[in-house]
Amino acid sequence: MKIKLPSFKSQSFKTKDLHPIAYYDSGEMHLPAIILVHGFPFTHQMWDEQIEFLKGAYRTITYDVRGFGESVSDDHFFTMETLSNDFLELMDHLELKTTIALGLSMGGYIVLRAHEKAPERFSGLVLADTQATADSDDTKIKRSATLLAIKEKGLEVFADTFLKNVLAKHESMEKVQPLYKIITGTKKAGIMGALLALISRTDTSKSLRKITVPTLILVGEKDFITTTDASLKMHEHIPLSEMKIIEQAGHLSNIDCPEEFNLALAAFLLKVTKK
Ligand code: MLT
Repeated sequence: MKIKLPSFKSQSFKTKDLHPIAYYDSGEMHLPAIILVHGFPFTHQMWDEQIEFLKGAYRTITYDVRGFGESVSDDHFFTMETLSNDFLELMDHLELKTTIALGLSMGGYIVLRAHEKAPERFSGLVLADTQATADSDDTKIKRSATLLAIKEKGLEVFADTFLKNVLAKHESMEKVQPLYKIITGTKKAGIMGALLALISRTDTSKSLRKITVPTLILVGEKDFITTTDASLKMHEHIPLSEMKIIEQAGHLSNIDCPEEFNLALAAFLLKVTKK
């Protein structure tokens, strides 16, 4: 993963509750739009290799989810409701009636809930390394322990442990270091706020059968956080879905195996956008 200066200038808008959201728009208005929503606890930068790959073929929009990157503020009281509203308000701000949405993990939770609230705003979905189910009690308890650990030991220790679990190819420092920098450069309260939003999110499983747009489900073979089983469940319930397991990839499949991820994405986008 090469983290570089964002290819597009950071812009921002204020949500209805006056929270700033930073976004990056390739601005190619004549091309089909795709909004990419990053996973916990990263920023829009986790999409750099996809943005580069899609350049010239799609209007790409990434943003920093509330609490992360430049979408920071002193108010860290937010839930998945807030985060999915932010997504829809970004669409309103950009005057996008519909979009294709790509969400990875937490990004997928945001997209699934936004779709549940406003299905008419979507023309296609890419659900990467994510799931529709809410947290089990065990997961809630583990996340609560993580919250306390962050408070007591700080983000460096958290980043070390977290990154070991999300990359299958974590031996590569070239990939780990930029991600480590993103996590340790984030405000503690933002990450803790997001953890509470993850814990308290609703289950969107019942709405899966109501997804009527083409949907691509991508998952790393070695994703032990949002497993291939969770993806299979979504695939079974979403009528127009296709699913691809990315061999050798872990939870961050777009970073572990960007070539395979990008090829699957490109083939799907071509099908969705061809007239
Ligand atoms: C993510 O990648 O967004 C998180 O790992 C999601 C989760 O922990 O449920």
